[in-house]
Amino acid sequence: MKEQLNTIYQEFLDEISKASSLEELEKLRVAYLGKKGKITAVMKGMKSLSKEERPVIGQLANDIRSNIENGLTDKREALEKERLDKKLKEEVIDVTLPGKKQKRGSYHPLNKVIKDLEDIFIGMGFKIVDGPDIEWSKYNFDYLNMPPEHSSRDLSETFYVDTTPDQEILLRTQTSSVQARALQENGVPIRVVVPGRVYRADEIDATHSPVFHQIEGLVVDENISMSDLKGTLDLIAKKIFGEDTKTRFRPHQFYFTEPSAEMDVSCFNCGGKGCRVCQNTGWIELLGCGMVHPNVLKQCGIDPEKYSGYAFGIGLDRMAMMKYGINDLRLLFDNDLRFLEQFKVED
Ligand code: DAH
Repeated sequence: MKEQLNTIYQEFLDEISKASSLEELEKLRVAYLGKKGKITAVMKGMKSLSKEERPVIGQLANDIRSNIENGLTDKREALEKERLDKKLKEEVIDVTLPGKKQKRGSYHPLNKVIKDLEDIFIGMGFKIVDGPDIEWSKYNFDYLNMPPEHSSRDLSETFYVDTTPDQEILLRTQTSSVQARALQENGVPIRVVVPGRVYRADEIDATHSPVFHQIEGLVVDENISMSDLKGTLDLIAKKIFGEDTKTRFRPHQFYFTEPSAEMDVSCFNCGGKGCRVCQNTGWIELLGCGMVHPNVLKQCGIDPEKYSGYAFGIGLDRMAMMKYGINDLRLLFDNDLRFLEQFKVED
């Protein structure tokens, strides 16, 4: 049995010297020390030994067992060190190499316009709120006093997504859809702007796209009058286009405002003399606006005798085009890097 143990140990030494991976080591551990391993088998056979022999062989078996254990541990450490050294050598970093320059991205011109406007509105006490692009017809039309026969509800104007027994689901055609949502959620007084995408069944060309962008404004409080509307919008125009900018209001019709108007600004390019940007008129149409229709307030549970307000909607795509001299609307949506990189902020 003594010889048997010594042979096993010799075999172990031989095998461990050849082992070159942690997986092989584990196999060796199982083969020698595992429940069905060689040393365990010998130890189980010790019952048959004489009283005198048992402690001697027992001692030897224990010694060999711990030698094997130590051998495995030493070899494991050696292999792990080898693996680490190899990895360190492979992944060596030359700290003297010049660093890689971080490529700076840029704002999409539309997002830049939105961000600039948000800054202006926040400075004037407006809160920025959000609404869904996919909308119920009641928010896009009904609450806005736009009856079922309204032309913009036509299939050829609006993208309908689905219908339910009492309402349609559609891609919103205007950010005005958030007016009723904001009034119902926030109540009055309210002073919010809503930037976002809107959708209309338009053909695509240099000035039209089925997806475009607006920023909606809504202010409702006690004693809000048309002069608040005019004063605020005039100030906004000056903040966007410069102190010398003049504004003019032309009567218009929107269903959710009464009275309604469109506001033009004097051309920021020629100062009103007439040029290519303003198509020689000296004026640029900037937004639609008006005093919130009493029906809109009523439907949102607000007393129109006590509260009044104004609303406005600015088209953002045309504004970005004018501001950055972009001559084709489609460029805004192509995501062509050669175009977008021109709006990069230099280091
Ligand atoms: N929603 C209108 C449009 O898409 C723009 C507009 C006009 C918004 C008047 C308003 C407003 O809030 O008061 O043409």
